[in-house]
Amino acid sequence: MADHRLVVIGSGLAGLTTALEAARTATALEVLVLEKNPQVGGNSAKASSGINAVNPAGGDSPATYSDDTLQSGGGLSDSRLVERLVVRASAARASAFGASSEDALRFLEALGLDLSVVVQLGGHSVPRTHSNPSGPNVGFALVRAVETAVRQQPNVRIVTNAKVTSAAYSADGRLAVGYTLGLVATKPDSGSGGVGVAPEEVTVLCDGLVLATGGFAASREMLARYRPDVAGLPTTNGPWATGDGVALGGALGARLVQMDQVQVHPTGFVDPGDPDSGTKFLAPEKLRGCGALLLDDSGRRFVDELATRDVVTAAITAQPRHSAWLLLGAQGAARYGEGTLGFYSSKKLVTKVESAEAGAQHMGVDAAVLLQELAAHNTLADAAAAEAEAAAAAAARVGTVDQGGAHPPPRDVTGKRYFHGRVDVNAPVWVARVMPVVHYCMGGIQTRPDAAVLGQDGAPLHRVWAAGEVSGGLHGRNRLGGNSLAECAVFGRVAGRAAAAAIVSSTPVAAGQQVAL
Ligand code: FAD
Ligand code: SIN
Repeated sequence: MADHRLVVIGSGLAGLTTALEAARTATALEVLVLEKNPQVGGNSAKASSGINAVNPAGGDSPATYSDDTLQSGGGLSDSRLVERLVVRASAARASAFGASSEDALRFLEALGLDLSVVVQLGGHSVPRTHSNPSGPNVGFALVRAVETAVRQQPNVRIVTNAKVTSAAYSADGRLAVGYTLGLVATKPDSGSGGVGVAPEEVTVLCDGLVLATGGFAASREMLARYRPDVAGLPTTNGPWATGDGVALGGALGARLVQMDQVQVHPTGFVDPGDPDSGTKFLAPEKLRGCGALLLDDSGRRFVDELATRDVVTAAITAQPRHSAWLLLGAQGAARYGEGTLGFYSSKKLVTKVESAEAGAQHMGVDAAVLLQELAAHNTLADAAAAEAEAAAAAAARVGTVDQGGAHPPPRDVTGKRYFHGRVDVNAPVWVARVMPVVHYCMGGIQTRPDAAVLGQDGAPLHRVWAAGEVSGGLHGRNRLGGNSLAECAVFGRVAGRAAAAAIVSSTPVAAGQQVAL
């Protein structure tokens, strides 16, 4: 029987990473992961574009990544959190609290993941979003790898069908966590299994608590409260994203930050068979990172497809039908993965046609207009490719890496700077209708760079940490694609290590005391 217990609420990437890191840091610690769903993974398992990490091979640097993140955040990001996400700790600090996107990438690769595909998403000045070349969607692959490692830790238990309903300090400074164990669990803390047992109320005492419950982008009620203007939009989130951590943290005295900062992703697939559905499959940004174009109802481009999400969303919303066409050529499809496109085709979200002209017919636009638009785009894409090739050759000659960094000047009237391939008009193209969808909560529980949850007075709460989408302040007004999985992995590791160190340290951490990182 372990001497100390850490409870982690939520088993998405943030919760699982926290559990793994805490269990590895302190074997005398029992880590209990409580998950309300029958399966682990949350929205993390749905992630489809990738995870960000500084990508030196692509000309990236911590300063460039940091600048992109801060710029996208529009002045609202907490720069200390951005620094924690991006900047590699010194060797000594890394071994104590290893974090940063690069450390997180290595941590994940060490679990056997191949994250060698790197694309450039909107608002990034270099490619730095990593994903797997084959197999399931990147989020599922990440969750499966971390879950497998967690299950190998003898000091972790994952209990599914366990919905946490309360959290409070007990008289002795420990925490009492109340949860409802659902229908399919056999007995408290035994993990899911059996059937037919009535729900049971359980209270568990612990020495530390990590909130990793995700966001509230599936809660119409919370959206109506914090962002009524987007509450009517469809969502990409699973129904479990109901912001439970906000109430649980609130009960402990946590401070909330930027709750009105809700991200509307520009491209949810419109299912022709169910166009008004309140939940939509996401048309991943990786499609645009692989060269997909956005077209209006006359077949013309109208926005920089790789602008930040707020910009692309506003441009699509301004369209007469508040939606747009997305078109991907054969070169982009090969990069993106025809297998995944085939999945979307099987769901009738994407249609593959034999040529751009057939694409025009499918979209109901004038073929001459579309072909002219694609020719103009191809000219710019070819020029960009030639320049990139020349720059790479020059860098190779002098033995340096091209420091991408600074944004090049826009090449066209939409402001587009980065082009990722041409559209061969005589080869197959993939076409889909897309519209803006509620996607992500940038606000949430306020945390410090050591993942400690801050109370109303700005001091850290005693032994409470948070990681992942439940926390707020990192992304400001607009999250960059790929930065959520990065946040989960980085701050999950930070939270796990900080919690384990605080709990097993012989010197008890007093309320308000800072854990040195
Ligand atoms: P989650 O993964 O949502 O996990 C939270 C878990 O907590 C859930 O399993 C939930 O059931 C559980 N929980 C909640 N309340 C309770 C409770 N009361 N008791 C017990 N358990 C509870 N981001 C990227 O960076 N890159 C991408 O490519 C990307 N693609 C995405 C695609 C889709 C379709 C979606 C919806 C999001 C995507 N995101 C992406 C965003 C990213 O996936 C999420 O923001 C991130 O995974 C959140 O991780 P998390 O661990 O904080 O929360
Ligand atoms: C996407 O695939 O477009 C989502 C990526 C993200 O939310 O970071």
